Amino acid sequence: MAAETVIDERGDSLVGEDPRSPRSIEPDQVPHMAPVQLGSITVPTPVVLSPMAGVTNWPFRVICEEYGPDGLYVAEMITARALVARNPKALRLCHFAPSEKIRSLQLYGVNPSITEQAAKIVVDEGMADHVDLNFGCPVPKVTRRGGGSALPWKTDIFTELISRVVKVCDAASIPVTAKIRVGIDHNHETFLEAGHIAQEEGCKAVTLHARTTAEYYGGHSDWSRIGELKASLDIPVFGNGDIWGAEDALAMVRQTGCDGVAVGRGCQGRPWLFANIKNAFEGNPERINPNLGEVCRIIRRHAELLTEFYEGDERMAVHDLRKHIAWYLKGFPVGGSTRKAFMECENMADLEREMGNLDPSIEYPPRVIDKPRGRVRFAKKVHLPYGWLDARTTTHEERETLFGDDPMDASY
Ligand SMILES: Cc1cc2nc3c(=O)[nH]c(=O)nc-3n(C[C@H](O)[C@H](O)[C@H](O)COP(=O)(O)O)c2cc1C
Repeated sequence: MAAETVIDERGDSLVGEDPRSPRSIEPDQVPHMAPVQLGSITVPTPVVLSPMAGVTNWPFRVICEEYGPDGLYVAEMITARALVARNPKALRLCHFAPSEKIRSLQLYGVNPSITEQAAKIVVDEGMADHVDLNFGCPVPKVTRRGGGSALPWKTDIFTELISRVVKVCDAASIPVTAKIRVGIDHNHETFLEAGHIAQEEGCKAVTLHARTTAEYYGGHSDWSRIGELKASLDIPVFGNGDIWGAEDALAMVRQTGCDGVAVGRGCQGRPWLFANIKNAFEGNPERINPNLGEVCRIIRRHAELLTEFYEGDERMAVHDLRKHIAWYLKGFPVGGSTRKAFMECENMADLEREMGNLDPSIEYPPRVIDKPRGRVRFAKKVHLPYGWLDARTTTHEERETLFGDDPMDASY
C-alpha cells in the first residue's frame, strides 16, 4: 500500500466555546421554518436524519419517521463499488420500507466513473427518490483512499464525481445533495469552495457538518461556519453537528439562518427527538421524554422491524439492536448485570425476558435529556493518500493509483 500523509492534529483543532445560546427560547423567537424544496421533492419539516453507518437502516428510519412524519430520513452510506459489484450487504442497505415517504439513499465513492455507475443502478432500478453524496466521512479507511471528507480537497475529482452523478439522476428527476465537512483541518478548509462546486454542478442542497476531518467527532461543531456557508450559497443549507435536543435545533437555525437541520448522534436511542424538533419548529412547547415502559415498547418494535430487515433472522436482529439498547437505556437506573444480560440476548424471547425485569414506570432520566451521546473524540491523526495535500488537483499517476487497484474490491 502507498505511504500516507499523516497530519498530527494535536493542538491544531481545538474548538472554541460552545456556540449554543441558553436553552430557554421564547415562543416569539421560534424561527419560521419553510419546507425545503429539493428539486421535485418537498421536505415539509426541514429536519434530516443524518446518515449513520450501522444505524440508519430502514427499521430505525421507520421509527424516527413515525415520530416526525415529513422530514428526510437518509439511509446509511452505500459504497458505490459495492453496489456496482452487487454486494448482497450493500443491496440490503438499499431497501426501504413501504411507509417511507422519501426514499433517500447516500452514495459514497471516490472514483467518478464507479459512482456514476452506482447512480445509474439507483436510477434504472428505481431504488430511491433522493441521492445524497458522502463527502464527510472522516474514518481512516475511507480518507486514506481519498474518499469522504478527503475528496473536496481534490477539486477535479470532486467536481467530476458530482457532475456525473447529477447528470444521471437529473434525467430521472432525482435530486442530488452533498454532505461535506469544514475541511481536512483548519489549514485546509474546503467547505465554501465545495459548497459552490456542489451548487454549480446541480446539487439541490448541501449539508455541512461543521467540523474538520481532524476534529472527527470531538469538541463542539462550529456553527458559525454553517452561517458562512448559508450566506454564500443560493441552494438550501442543512446545518449539522451537535443537535442533542429540540432547543439546539432552534438555536442552530437562529444563529446560522440555515434552511434545516440534520441530526446524527442526538437521535441514537432517542428517535422521539424528531417529534420534539417538529414541535419546536411549529412553536409547540410539547416535548416527549418517554418512561421506561414506553422505551421498552420502542425497543420491541425496533427488534421486530430488524427481524424483518434480516429476513426472519432474530439473532442478527438482536445483535444489531445491542448498540441501540445501550443508547435506549442510557441514564436509566438499570444495573450493570441487567445491561450485560441485554448484550447477551440472542433472540426475541431473551429480549422479552430482560425487558420483563424492568420497571416500566421509571421516568426518563432528566440528566440525559438533550445531552450529548455517541462518538465524541478527536482524530488521533488524519490519514490521506501520499502527497494528497500538495496540490488541489490530481495528476494522471495519482488517479491511476487511486482508481486502478483492486477494481472490484467491494468494501470501499
Ligand atoms: C456511527 C456513525 C456513523 C456515521 N455514518 C455516516 C454515513 O454513513 N454517512 C455520512 O455522511 N455521515 C455519517 N456519519 C456522520 C453523521 O451523519 C453526522 O454528520 C455527524 O454525526 C455529526 O452530526 P451529529 O453531531 O448530530 O452527530 C456517521 C456518524 C456516526 C456517529
